[in-house]
Amino acid sequence: MTARGHPRPTRRHLDPWRDADAQTNLEQMAAGLEARGRTPAQARLRRRFLRFVPVRAGDHVLEVGCGTGVVVRDLVALVGRRGEVVGIDSSRLLLDRARRLCREAAGRARVALRVGDGARLPFAASRFDAALAITVLLHVADPLRVVREMARVTRPGGHVGVQDQDFGVVALTHPDHELTDRIMHGVAAHIYPEPHSGRRLPGLLRAAGLDDVRLLTDVYQDTTLEPWTKTFLERRAERAVSFAIVNGTTAARWLDGLTEVVAQGAFVLTLNYYGAVGTKPA
Ligand SMILES: C[S@@+](CC[C@H](N)C(=O)[O-])C[C@H]1O[C@@H](n2cnc3c(N)ncnc32)[C@H](O)[C@@H]1O
Repeated sequence: MTARGHPRPTRRHLDPWRDADAQTNLEQMAAGLEARGRTPAQARLRRRFLRFVPVRAGDHVLEVGCGTGVVVRDLVALVGRRGEVVGIDSSRLLLDRARRLCREAAGRARVALRVGDGARLPFAASRFDAALAITVLLHVADPLRVVREMARVTRPGGHVGVQDQDFGVVALTHPDHELTDRIMHGVAAHIYPEPHSGRRLPGLLRAAGLDDVRLLTDVYQDTTLEPWTKTFLERRAERAVSFAIVNGTTAARWLDGLTEVVAQGAFVLTLNYYGAVGTKPA
């Protein structure tokens, strides 16, 4: 509130994941999640994190912000027939896709997918063995509130696990370093209130009252320009133009520079992922 008691004007958020159902390119966003899910280096770092939590056979696991169900399908394989996977997401339309894409997996464990807000989880206290959020906290208005809710619905001794990228740590080969930094950092700073979300996760779990906080730092590495990476970089170029960070000609020149680097066999992109896990105190 301002000194005169008026609500503060909120900065219009530019992050499409805040309200996926309002986006005109939802189909493309859903396809992007699935493409990322299929990318071998992404699948490896996601699964390494699930083992780090750890998720075990028979566990009852909540995934907050499940999107199209990429992680739900991984979780089903880990919890098995005696286990249960519940995914919630604020997007009704992404959940429709998740229901189709998880149909087969739902035959191998109990799976429930429902609409809900991570900041107000529709579950009783201590309902789950583990509550997870994978590349979600970066997108929410109040990450601490979501983590507190995740801790509430986790049983004492159970785990809260969160994993996020950190857009402060992106390395990319390109002939023009200055332009690359301007586009990569400029776009991330426009979209996310906290582009360094990844490195902040351990502190967030401690602030939510969790014990024994552990950190797994992992790196997404691409040397061939995977389809998901290509789309990611093209979207960054488009957005740099829409946010007036560069003009269309400069964005096209930047993408041409990347094509050149790929043709020389010199392409490298690395992006850090931080996975933090805490234990709910007894
Ligand atoms: C980048 S996607 C990640 C999806 C999935 N975890 C994965 O790794 O494939 C972020 C997801 O968080 C969801 N989301 C954003 N804010 C949310 C909130 N407050 N509560 C629940 N879900 C939310 C979005 O709708 C979207 O599906």
